[in-house]
Amino acid sequence: MQHAIAILDSGVGGLTVAKEVMRQLPREKVVYFGDTARTPYGPRPAEQVIQFTRQIVDYLLQYKPKMIVIACNTATAVALEDIRSRVSVPVVGVIHPGARAAIKTTRSGRVGVIGTEGTIRSGAYETALREISPQLQVVSMACPSFVPIVEQGRYEDDIAREEVKHVLRPFREEHLDCLILGCTHYPYLTGAIREAMGPSVALISSADETAREISTILYHNGQLAQSNQEPVHQFFCSGDPHLFRSIAQSWLKEEIQVTPVVWRVPTIS
Ligand code: DGL
Repeated sequence: MQHAIAILDSGVGGLTVAKEVMRQLPREKVVYFGDTARTPYGPRPAEQVIQFTRQIVDYLLQYKPKMIVIACNTATAVALEDIRSRVSVPVVGVIHPGARAAIKTTRSGRVGVIGTEGTIRSGAYETALREISPQLQVVSMACPSFVPIVEQGRYEDDIAREEVKHVLRPFREEHLDCLILGCTHYPYLTGAIREAMGPSVALISSADETAREISTILYHNGQLAQSNQEPVHQFFCSGDPHLFRSIAQSWLKEEIQVTPVVWRVPTIS
């Protein structure tokens, strides 16, 4: 049996990371979980996000993954260390890879970060950026309206473009040279964000650098998949499987099957 890379998020956001993993590591099998019944995680208290993340990880462990990827900034910010202490396989988050990608890109040292309330409140990006490069100036902003737009599959609508433009207007005056998309849902809105910020601001998504980190760890552990057979990925979601499937197929540009998961523990508040 080929051991998979397990990837999780509150919904369809982590597919931005999964897509890059599939591109950079085409032999690897991906098992993906989107917790769409309980999205968004951003406004939730940290303890609840930790509890939800543990529950998803416990679910995914039945597939005996060789690695777990928390493809959610909100969960990475509060639950990464907790999950690392509970499982025996490597656990990768998305915040350090995103921070490294921004450090590689910035010339002026003025870096913007947008994310959910939970991620911005945690200060996790500032910490990760300044740990490596203390002189950076970091400007952060929470954008709570973006995730619901993506989860409803409305990310290409005019209303999405208008909302993004309105929310990011104050950021235009910040003289940033790069902007970290500190939520894995935001790459769906790349076109609108680029339009709102203008061409001089580079947009940083952690997907690319996270996939590279996964590849490096698997290589060093001698765990890269060897099979020449095309992997069959698996997708699970806790909410509406039809909506998840339609967004996932249009993002991944491939046909997929989605297995609905009903949480037996009613933990929604
Ligand atoms: N995509 C997630 C993130 O990167 C979660 C967004 C949410 O559920 O609020 O933070």
